[in-house]
Amino acid sequence: MIEYSGPKKIKTAVFISGTGSNLKNLIKFSKQRNFPISIDLIISNNAKAKGLIYANNFKIKKKVFNFSNKIIAEKKILSLLFKNKIELICLAGFMKILSKSFIQRFNGKILNIHPSLLPKYKGLDTHARALKNNDKYSGCTVHLVNSKLDSGKIILQKKVKIYKNDNIKTLSKRVLKQEHKLYPVAIKRFLINL
Ligand code: GRF
Repeated sequence: MIEYSGPKKIKTAVFISGTGSNLKNLIKFSKQRNFPISIDLIISNNAKAKGLIYANNFKIKKKVFNFSNKIIAEKKILSLLFKNKIELICLAGFMKILSKSFIQRFNGKILNIHPSLLPKYKGLDTHARALKNNDKYSGCTVHLVNSKLDSGKIILQKKVKIYKNDNIKTLSKRVLKQEHKLYPVAIKRFLINL
């Protein structure tokens, strides 16, 4: 694979709502000299998101926004993104759906990781749905965000085998492990092919 050799890292904001294991993983990768992004901002809709701890641990700017009024929240977020010269957004377990106009303002520069083999199982409860349908495989997808939920261009996917005795917990754990491998590779691929 081509190693990133650009002059400077792409300033990135990661949006989270919960545990933040993908966030933590991306921070780890961003510290590598050859990895093309730096994580300069962490945004959450949830003040109790466990992942916010990584902002403190790694001394990254963080901000929580109240989405009870989405229009106002998004307006504030956009101005913070521009103020911090953010060029890329990585959604990582962010549970709010961004508006069309927000996505347009950042057009083509928002990535998401989704725990299914899209276009299968857009939205929530992906593992439960895969298990219920007796699928042989689940997996994860990194895709561009457009105005339709989980429907943007697919950058990379990874299949994960479903075993007979799997449950939501065991399957999501195995998929998450692959997410941590997939997201950094997909970011590299996306930025190199821009
Ligand atoms: C991941 O499974 C991700 O694909 C989904 O939400 C989960 C977030 O996990 N969108 P974490 O907060 O990164 O640990």
